[in-house]
Amino acid sequence: MDFREKYSEFFTQLDSKFFDQERFVPAVGPEKAKVMMIGEAPGANEVEEGEPFVGRAGERMNDILNDIDVDRDEIYITNLVKIRPPDNRDPKSDEIEAWAPLLEKEVEEVQPDVIVTLGNFASKYMLDTSKGISKIHGRVFTREGQKIMPVYHPAATLYDRSKGPELEKDLRKAFGKEESGQQKLTDL
Ligand code: URA
Repeated sequence: MDFREKYSEFFTQLDSKFFDQERFVPAVGPEKAKVMMIGEAPGANEVEEGEPFVGRAGERMNDILNDIDVDRDEIYITNLVKIRPPDNRDPKSDEIEAWAPLLEKEVEEVQPDVIVTLGNFASKYMLDTSKGISKIHGRVFTREGQKIMPVYHPAATLYDRSKGPELEKDLRKAFGKEESGQQKLTDL
């Protein structure tokens, strides 16, 4: 079913000032998925292709997923805000607030074993924390019985190469592909 149709109740009540079909990108992935990934907001490439994480950050993410032997098609991938912010600025708090109820509905629907939040915006929202991602990445938190693991945003690893191995290590843990000696998510 089409994403907007599936969540039509949300879209009918969304204030039109927070919607623009020309900048809208729906989630992708199976209806039920073991892992749900939440990014910040789509960029220009995502709007062009109508899919989250298909630009440079997405390529980086795909490379890591390939390296750790995870099939991207098995992951439910969504964004906190589903409209591309103009000039690639950060999402504003009223935009996050307007789109958050949809994210909550997606979580209810997808019933993931673990939610991986990519970067500061999704992590701070989902964990209701002001702590920065460098302090909390790779740890497993529980929110109303739901496991959540914040990780670095793949775009951050493009600017700071040292974050790449950290992101890979955290994703290995989230997907149960730990290297020997690495702590398992299932043990937590
Ligand atoms: N960055 C995000 O946070 N989401 C995308 O979909 C693409 C880049």
